[in-house]
Amino acid sequence: MNAGDTAADVRDALRDAAFAALENAYAPYSRFRVGAALLTTTGEIIAGCNVENSAYGETICAERVAVSGAVARGMTSFVNIAIASESEEPAPPCGSCRQTMSEFAPDLRITSYARNGKQITWHLAELLPQAFAPDHLRGRM
Ligand code: THU
Repeated sequence: MNAGDTAADVRDALRDAAFAALENAYAPYSRFRVGAALLTTTGEIIAGCNVENSAYGETICAERVAVSGAVARGMTSFVNIAIASESEEPAPPCGSCRQTMSEFAPDLRITSYARNGKQITWHLAELLPQAFAPDHLRGRM
């Protein structure tokens, strides 16, 4: 994103990036395509999609792909994530994704979008109260 972009510009760009990533989802088993786009504190957008596997348990969700992609590029601080799916109601992130996002951004704002225009925004702390956090390992690191 660029200086001069309004908050609405940024939100729209993040939503569009999530829907663009959804197009690349590999979801032949569930046929539930998901895209996610993270906004980093440095203004970058990093997207991911769900990647399923014939060994079903190896599936990875769009949100965790986005987080992994950002970390691999040296970005570990996030302000927002947009999630796009094709369900009738905006899909909340699964428990594993909540925990993964919480590691890096316990204050993350999450907006989930359905194709029909519906959207819901949550704060990660409300979806994952009492999260296990790096602080719980204090003294061991
Ligand atoms: N999925 C995600 O990508 N994100 C979530 O938070 C929930 C579920 C994916 C995993 C799987 O490929 C499909 O949706 C159905 O569970």
